[in-house]
Amino acid sequence: MPQRQYVIDEMISAKAIAARIEAVARDISTHFADTDKLVVVGLLRGSFVFIADLVREIDLPVEVDFLEASSYGDDTTSSREVRILKDLRGKIEGRDVLVVEDIVDTGHTLTHVLHMLGGRKPRRLAVCALLDKPARREVEMNADWIGFEIPDEFVVGYGIDFAQRNRNLPYIGKVRFTGDEA
Ligand code: PRP
Repeated sequence: MPQRQYVIDEMISAKAIAARIEAVARDISTHFADTDKLVVVGLLRGSFVFIADLVREIDLPVEVDFLEASSYGDDTTSSREVRILKDLRGKIEGRDVLVVEDIVDTGHTLTHVLHMLGGRKPRRLAVCALLDKPARREVEMNADWIGFEIPDEFVVGYGIDFAQRNRNLPYIGKVRFTGDEA
């Protein structure tokens, strides 16, 4: 597929991400202090780096599970279909569940996922998202913990891709297009 040329400008450094994760994880640990075990659910694929760092800072017994959702639909309408491509391995009824997302954009993915997981009757269901882009929101969605609120920029890195590239950058970068399609 032809790809426009671009460079990546650092937006949030690896150090700033680590510091913020430490603070958020401390807050999550306090919030769920009475849990027997927290089920931490990562939304694939974008959250894989964030969840790895976050769980290592959470001072509670945790179980890690993954869910993969994909949203279809054209960008010009707010009607989006969200499909579950991979469901959880474990049961969450009566459990404390923390959903971990890399970025909240339109809000459709999390709305669908939370509705589905809520139907399974967890004891508590909360959300932690590394990035929040409120300017892009199409449905109301507020995560319980947010790492950073960002403007409507095209971001990559720390798990987030551009056409399946750049997920392995250790920081969050902003894509800047430099030329015509190659
Ligand atoms: C991205 C991101 C979120 C979702 C947010 O996932 O990781 O899951 O979109 O968008 P929304 O708020 O508009 O629903 P993507 O579909 O790109 O898949 P990926 O995580 O596998 O990269």
